[in-house]
Amino acid sequence: MPESFFILSKDNLELAKDEVIAIAKTYDRFSKSKSFSNLVIIQSTTSWEKIANRATFVKLSGQILRKMSGLFLGEDNYEVLKNAKTFACRIVNLSSKQFDIQGLESSMGDMISKLSSAEVDLKNPEIIIYLIFTNQQNFFGFSKPFKNPKRPKKIRKHPHELDWKLVRVMINLIGLKEGETVCDPFCGTGTTLLEAESMGIKAIGVDFDEKMYQITKENLDANGFKSKIIKGDFSHFTSIEDKFDGIVTDLPYGTASKVSENPQELIKKFVEMLPRRKKIAIMCKKGFEKKLKMNPSKTYDIYRHKSLTRTILIK
Ligand SMILES: C[S@@+](CC[C@H](N)C(=O)[O-])C[C@H]1O[C@@H](n2cnc3c(N)ncnc32)[C@H](O)[C@@H]1O
Repeated sequence: MPESFFILSKDNLELAKDEVIAIAKTYDRFSKSKSFSNLVIIQSTTSWEKIANRATFVKLSGQILRKMSGLFLGEDNYEVLKNAKTFACRIVNLSSKQFDIQGLESSMGDMISKLSSAEVDLKNPEIIIYLIFTNQQNFFGFSKPFKNPKRPKKIRKHPHELDWKLVRVMINLIGLKEGETVCDPFCGTGTTLLEAESMGIKAIGVDFDEKMYQITKENLDANGFKSKIIKGDFSHFTSIEDKFDGIVTDLPYGTASKVSENPQELIKKFVEMLPRRKKIAIMCKKGFEKKLKMNPSKTYDIYRHKSLTRTILIK
C-alpha cells in the first residue's frame, strides 16, 4: 500500500494531523497513520496529491519510496527520475541531530546526477527528492511541484467572519466528499458555502439577517457558485434534513454579529435539534459547549486572543 508523507505547520498541530488522517480515511477507511512531531506518514490508497489538495495545514508532501536506517541509497531508488529531465534534493531534519543541510543536499544532488540522466534544477524541478530525518526513522521520498488549489473570491467581508482555514478543516474533519452537501444554518458571509463549493461539495446556507443573506449571495455570485442560501431562522435546517449530508457551522458569539436570542440558549436549542445520523462540526466560543448534551467524538480549542478561544466540536 502506498505511503505518503505530510509535513505540517506547527500551528494547531493536532488539528492539522487529524485533518490529513481524516481526508485519507474519507476515501479509504482502512488508511493507517503514524506521526513523528509535525510529520505524518499515511498508508492509504488515497494519493498524497488528493490529500494535499484538500488539506489546510500541509507545508510539504509527497510519496515515500523507502524507509532507511542510514543514509545509503542505491541506484534503484532513482527509478522515479527515469522520465524526469530535472530534479532538486531537499533535506528535512526533524531529528535532534545537527546536519549540514545545504552540504548534504548538494552532495546528494551530485550523486544522483551521476546515477540518472536528470539534472539539478533548484528553481523549477520536475521532481523533488526528499530525505526526511526523524529521531526514530529516516524516509526517502519524492514529490512533484504542487500548485495550491485556486482560492474562491470573497468580495464582501464582515468582522465576524471565520478564517477560511478553520472552515476547511471542519469540512475535512467530518469527511464530506465531492458531490455531497453541507448545510451551514448560521452562514454569515458564506465562508462555509464558498469553501465547500471550491472543494466540489454542494452547500446550503441559512441566516436570519437580511444583510448577511445579501453578502453571501454576492460572494457566491462573484465566483459563479450555485450554493443555496435561505433567509430564515436556523431551525429551518430541520425541514431540509434529507437535502444535506453534514453540518458545518460557526455559532453566534453574541458580540460582532446579530443574534436572535441569548447565544447560549440558542446553541442549546440548536444542539437539541441536530440530526442523529449526519456528520457534524460546530465551532463556538469556548465555554458555550459545556452545558450541551452533544457528546462530541473530539474537541479542539483554538486560541485567538485573550478574550476569545474557540472550540470545534466534531460528532
Ligand atoms: C458567528 S456568525 C457566522 C459567521 C460565518 N461563519 C462567517 O464566516 O461569516 C453567526 C451568524 O449567525 C446568524 N444568526 C444569529 N441568530 C440566528 C438565527 N436565529 N437564525 C439564523 N441565523 C442566525 C448571524 O446573523 C450571523 O451571521
